[in-house]
Order: sequence, then structure tokens, then C-alpha cells
Amino acid sequence: MRLVLMGGSLRAASLNGKLLHHLAGELEARGHQVSAFTREALRLPWYEEGAVPSSEALALHAALREAQGLVIVSPEYNAGIPGHLKNAVDWLSTMKPSPWPGLPVLLCAASPGAFGGARGLMAWRATLANMGALALPEAITVPHADQQLDPNGAPTEARTAATVPKVLDGFLSLVARLRL
Ligand SMILES: Cc1cc2nc3c(=O)[nH]c(=O)nc-3n(C[C@H](O)[C@H](O)[C@H](O)COP(=O)(O)O)c2cc1C
Repeated sequence: MRLVLMGGSLRAASLNGKLLHHLAGELEARGHQVSAFTREALRLPWYEEGAVPSSEALALHAALREAQGLVIVSPEYNAGIPGHLKNAVDWLSTMKPSPWPGLPVLLCAASPGAFGGARGLMAWRATLANMGALALPEAITVPHADQQLDPNGAPTEARTAATVPKVLDGFLSLVARLRL
């Protein structure tokens, strides 16, 4: 299947960026074709009515139109969606055709905090539902991610590590069922 991964913060040492690359590797190892959008690929101009989409916005739009599923790996800022990711989502929702209706989405987050970015994912769920995207009920969250990700972005805490294959496989089953 063709899958897009989008997320991380804009900083080079992003914990969410590390987790995203680990998840991309896991999906590739399962035989899927993945495209990852991070950092500069997500540094879009602020959305403004009438503005022409940048080449980065066009590339993301084209990838999502071809994709059968999307994995979002999002930092949590003030219990919500970081501005650069919300801006990207808003751009995409104004581009025709909108890639969002019926798109299966897996939500993931990593945070140094004890909740692993789970509160930010609630904000994502509201936004995705508004656009008609289909977020998997389960999610991957990595608490204490500053201490509990290995150098390749794999979670090291046993329970979190066990969640990753379970949730990824659940997501892939959803994608397969929706896109048959
Ligand atoms: C403006 C701002 C707000 C934040 N708010 C939260 C928050 O609500 N919950 C949380 O767990 N972490 C919060 N953090 C801490 C981030 O989770 C932490 O900086 C994390 O490393 C960001 O993700 P990254 O490593 O991918 O850049 C916030 C950080 C910033 C800069």
C-alpha cells in the first residue's frame, strides 16, 4: 500500500521526527511504499485566502491524493496541534480535490511529558473528523520520549514498544478494508 507519514517539529532533534522515521522503517519492512514529510517539507507559508499553494504544499497534496493511508506523528503544543502542522492541514483542506474525506489516519505522538502527547491527539481527532478523515481509534503515544526512544527512534519502554506493532497492524487492516 502507498502510505504518507507527516509530522515532527521543525527542529532537527525532533523526538516526533525520530519516532516518524522508526515507524516509516516498520511500514517499509512490512512491504509498504512510504513517503515521509518532515521539517522543510512542512515549512509552508501561512495559509491565506487567494494565495497560491507553494511547491511544498503541492507535493504534499499530490502524495496524499495517491496515498491509501496517512500516519501523523505530532508534537503536542499547549494540549493542541503545533502551528506548522495545523497550517499544512488547512492548506490541504482548501486544495481541490480535498484529500481528507474517507482518508484513514493513524495518530502518533511523542513527548517528554507523562501523557506522551495524548491530549494533542484529541485536538487532531476533532480536526480530522471535521474534514471527514477516518482516524483509527487506537493511537501510538510515547511518554518520557526524551529518555525512552533509542537513537533510531524506537520506543524502549516495554509496554510502549509492544503497542507499536499492534497498532500499526490494526491500522493496516483498516486501510486494507477501506480501500478494497
Ligand atoms: C509551545 C510549546 C508548548 C508545549 N506544550 C506541551 C504540552 O501541552 N504537552 C506536552 O506534553 N508537551 C508540550 N511541550 C513540550 C513538547 O512536547 C516538547 O518540546 C517536545 O520535545 C516537542 O516535540 P519535538 O521533540 O518533536 O520537537 C510544548 C512545547 C512547546 C515549544
